[in-house]
Amino acid sequence: MRTIEWDDEKDVVKLIDQTLLPGDYKIVECTRLDELIEAIKKLKVRGAPALGAAGAFGVVLAFMNEQDEATLKDEVEKLKKARPTAVNLSYGVNRALQAAMRGRSMQERCSYALEEAKRIAEEDVAVNKKIGDYGSALLEDGDVVLTHCNAGRLACVDWGTALGVIRTAIEKGKRIEVIACETRPLNQGSRLTAWELLQDEIPVTLITDSMGAAVMREGKVNKVLVGADRVVKEGVLNKIGTYMHAVVAKAHAIPFYVAAPLSSFDTAQSYKAVEIEERGPEELLFFGEKQIAPLDVKVYNPAFDFTPFELIEAIITEKGVIRDVKEDV
Ligand code: MRU
Repeated sequence: MRTIEWDDEKDVVKLIDQTLLPGDYKIVECTRLDELIEAIKKLKVRGAPALGAAGAFGVVLAFMNEQDEATLKDEVEKLKKARPTAVNLSYGVNRALQAAMRGRSMQERCSYALEEAKRIAEEDVAVNKKIGDYGSALLEDGDVVLTHCNAGRLACVDWGTALGVIRTAIEKGKRIEVIACETRPLNQGSRLTAWELLQDEIPVTLITDSMGAAVMREGKVNKVLVGADRVVKEGVLNKIGTYMHAVVAKAHAIPFYVAAPLSSFDTAQSYKAVEIEERGPEELLFFGEKQIAPLDVKVYNPAFDFTPFELIEAIITEKGVIRDVKEDV
């Protein structure tokens, strides 16, 4: 199934529980908004575009279960804040809310929100295919592409942004290999990118995040390609570690590309005004159940970082490739 979808028979949101991959493939059903908010906070569903769809489906759950307007408003605010950095979450919530408000009864509002949420989900797949079409022209037969985190079908409703570009290039007959960085501390690269590429039989090699510089220096990487959580006035916010790869790519004259739908663009905003999600210390103190650091050590664990446009060769969107990106993007 897709990463996230609405089940019309049960009236629930269904999602692949990404915290269990690659060991277990399980589908979670959310009937209430608080369950979905919990799933978002725990990263059962994650990745900017998937969060956009989750936000919209969350509004449907809010209208389905909540009659009182004040509580509903409160719940929707909590949903928007569940993860603050990817702009897609509030984008999805706002679109579904606006659609809902055209209805006069709660029932009408609920069905308008559902129509819009389904539209957002369908659009996401179509947009990713377009990104794939434009982006695949930038990849050459034989390229080895380094990627960070997971900007694949699991981060979207389907197909993927950065990994979608690779999928389309392969569909067009190009031989592409991927180097996936493990993406500590939650390992979206090793758990999710490696898993979904292997599902599609796309050649992938796993490395630790700290190997990025060495493999680039050794000439093992032709291009770096990542997704985005938010494109702002001066650059791109994406998974922690993205900036490090961009600096190293620049030092070795390796093109650094970002693939992102326009729904991730928030270019009126400066990166300084965007909240970078800070996650709990347990993600660094433990690896699964195993303690890997003294419990009383001070921990700093931001989930995202900022990469300025001067390090980015181009941004691939559904409307085309933006080269020479600068502040007026
Ligand atoms: O914390 P996550 O797993 O939600 O972070 C995801 C990323 O940083 C992705 O690179 C980004 O959302 C783009 S997904 C197409």
